[in-house]
Amino acid sequence: MLPSRAVVAAPPDAIFGLNEAFAADPRPDKVTVVEGVYVDERGEAPVLDSVREAERRLVEQTQTKMYLPMAGAEDFRSAVSRFVFGPSSTIPDSGRAVVAQAPGGTGALRVAADFLIQTGGARTAWVPQPTWPNHPQVFGLAGFHIERYPYLDETGRRIDRERLLARLSSAVPGDVVVLHACCHNPTGMDPSIELWHEIADVILDRQLLPVVDFAYQGFGRGLREDAEWLAAFDRPNLEFVICSSFSKNFSLYNERVGALTVVCLDRARADAVLSNVKIAIRANYSNPPTHGSSVVSTILGDPVLKAQWETELEHMRGRIQAQRAALGDAMREHQVVGGWDRIGGQLGLFAFLGLSDDQVTRLRDDWAVYVVGGGRINVAALTPENVGRVAEAVAAVVADR
Ligand code: LMR
Repeated sequence: MLPSRAVVAAPPDAIFGLNEAFAADPRPDKVTVVEGVYVDERGEAPVLDSVREAERRLVEQTQTKMYLPMAGAEDFRSAVSRFVFGPSSTIPDSGRAVVAQAPGGTGALRVAADFLIQTGGARTAWVPQPTWPNHPQVFGLAGFHIERYPYLDETGRRIDRERLLARLSSAVPGDVVVLHACCHNPTGMDPSIELWHEIADVILDRQLLPVVDFAYQGFGRGLREDAEWLAAFDRPNLEFVICSSFSKNFSLYNERVGALTVVCLDRARADAVLSNVKIAIRANYSNPPTHGSSVVSTILGDPVLKAQWETELEHMRGRIQAQRAALGDAMREHQVVGGWDRIGGQLGLFAFLGLSDDQVTRLRDDWAVYVVGGGRINVAALTPENVGRVAEAVAAVVADR
């Protein structure tokens, strides 16, 4: 017999569940700005030209469907190391860092969580409040007890530096701290480099283990700018984990390509870590899929394709910024109460409005406007046709507050 809870319907996923509700909604004027996917003017996740060219080469050159090694393709792993740490970092050649390919950023997080549970140590993971809803789910289902640290102050307009640092200081040695490298999901507000240094100080002082979710590299201020936090963490006595996603910056959502990077004190520890990570992978999905990682390593390994891809990424970033400005204009036009200029300073795909559950429900029920809890809007999904309607709907639910 199945366990009794298995036959009781689970609540819908906080993000993908809304897609299902949207699809079933018969109202013709419905609008969704839910999913964290860069969509173009057609409302589709584009196939980048650099990706098409890499795929064309792969179709011609691929000779085998052999399994990849458990930790993934060698060329992908070394390309990711250079890409994440940047050309001037000494980490890739130091042997301190090991990279394992993973099926998307979520896969990297789950392998990290499993690897940490399987190797003992503390069983508490601290996530920001608010955070991407899958963070507590991934770490919770892997066996972690979840604690939350405050992220924004009560105005919802800035990071609450004091409370964040104070709460993290109450963590105990070995605890995992989940951080967003850039384009914090959902708030779009990132720590200053000074705050990153202060966070790193607490982590060292309390002997914590940071797991940094790097899902949006290149969607904030630029590829290297979005990696500036690394300067605060690149200390000889600090070990940390990075979970990268290539879904967003390469627009490879359905290929599931990501990476888990573990930075250790030295090469010997790093080699041992990789052997344990391989067990977590082997017990999960055995070995990763090839196609997405081959696309990424083909692009990163060819200077011409890489330059083309960087231009395409810049275009995506520029359009996101223009769409954010358009939303700000529409909100001013509809005289949304509450000083919504705040969204102008947010970074990445999302505008975060800080709405109540009731306001989010009313957007959906009364206006057929679907946003993620807290009032997260994917600005790329706005169009000249729907942006006014979204602003009008927000104005209405905010006015009724
Ligand atoms: C999001 O936040 O909407 C994206 O990262 C998609 C997902 O997996 O939730």
